[in-house]
Amino acid sequence: MRVLVVGGGGREHALCWALKRDTPDADLFAAPGNPGTAQLGTNLDIHVTAMDDLVQAVRRHHIDFTVVGPEAPLAAGLADRLRAAGHPVFGPSQAAARIESSKAFAKDVMGQARIPTAASRSFTALDPALAYLKRHAEPLVVKASGLAGGKGAVVCATRDEAARTVHAMLAGGAFGDAGREVVVEEFLEGEELSVLALTDGEQLVVLPAAQDHKRLGEGDTGPNTGGMGAYCPVSIATDGLLERVRRQVLEPALQELAARGAPYQGVLYAGLMLAADGTPYVLEFNCRFGDPETQALVPVLPGITAHLRDIALGAWKPREAILSASRAAVATVLAAPGYPDTPRLGGAIVVPRDLEPGTLAFQAGTARDADGTLRVAGGRVLTVTGLGDTVAAAREQSTRGCELIGFDGKAYRRDIGWRQIRRTTERAGAP
Ligand code: AMP
Ligand code: GLY
Repeated sequence: MRVLVVGGGGREHALCWALKRDTPDADLFAAPGNPGTAQLGTNLDIHVTAMDDLVQAVRRHHIDFTVVGPEAPLAAGLADRLRAAGHPVFGPSQAAARIESSKAFAKDVMGQARIPTAASRSFTALDPALAYLKRHAEPLVVKASGLAGGKGAVVCATRDEAARTVHAMLAGGAFGDAGREVVVEEFLEGEELSVLALTDGEQLVVLPAAQDHKRLGEGDTGPNTGGMGAYCPVSIATDGLLERVRRQVLEPALQELAARGAPYQGVLYAGLMLAADGTPYVLEFNCRFGDPETQALVPVLPGITAHLRDIALGAWKPREAILSASRAAVATVLAAPGYPDTPRLGGAIVVPRDLEPGTLAFQAGTARDADGTLRVAGGRVLTVTGLGDTVAAAREQSTRGCELIGFDGKAYRRDIGWRQIRRTTERAGAP
């Protein structure tokens, strides 16, 4: 089996690792990959949106199926290009990927399919947007509709702040093309959950829920980032809740996309706000695996890559409706000093050859220099996943791994999974 993984972050290193775990004799290729994927297969020096080069590489290397990691190539139509050339691929078409690449489109789909989500309006013109804001309750949320690397949602305490944000997006060019349309929506309270499901467009298998920690600082304080850590499983995401998410969110979304001529194949990621009454409201859909959720999920889902292969090949016959995690996992991101504003690059990284069993180091913002020294080359440098029987044990394992990996100014949170750990301690302490 010859497999290409498109992408070069921690998510793609984790996907490559899982492909090797599940199919040890697979021949792996990554484009562009990173020094971590280079230890598992062959890196191809091709950018994720260089469509012609990617299609050519798939042909030249006789790739049996391709897994697309990031949203940009999906939004640009890579899966369509590969399918049109007869190459199996795991990932949605450009039309179906609009569920992530246009938040305005996603809101429209949700409205039509009656999926629980915050009340909202979308605007391309400034004046009607500002007029609408005048009557909006506070706080409120303004989102750039297009792809903004996870940074396009601004929670605004006041209407004034929202007006400034809308102005910056629609008139000031903030977020470029992604900000030419904005979604203004009601602020929701609750606990956030990431629920991912594999699908061939008809059948659907729900993965264990994960929880992402987007803020830089411990206790979920400080600026938003691309994600500082994630864990699974999450005990509030019972099978009953996941069943409800399937019925009220995932299946209606798939049906509505199919009705619009855009059947969805790949992994559909619902970013949810679980309200106090138990309703799962959708904050966003993503058309791909989450980062860093994937680094927590795939290590505890042995065999998951057979699903990706079978979906890509059009031969999927899943037996379970929900996959359950074999263990608990905590994935902690090691960030560069100065992340997220001005990450300082170039520092040498020391990764001990033998991390403890139950610890995995997935590379992301790393590069090897001419001497072979591993160096910091991006804001999120590595994700260290710890495994354990409980989230608390997994976090200890992950934190120990983070301590053992050395580079100047490394920054990481020691509290990934705190909500789950607090829940279990409370339960243990209850009479
Ligand atoms: P999004 O990119 O839409 O997932 O938004 C990024 C983050 O902004 C989410 O993970 C939430 O923390 C927050 N957020 C987005 N929409 C809302 C909302 N309607 N109410 C409260 N928080 C929100
Ligand atoms: N962890 C959030 C995302 O992948 O979009």
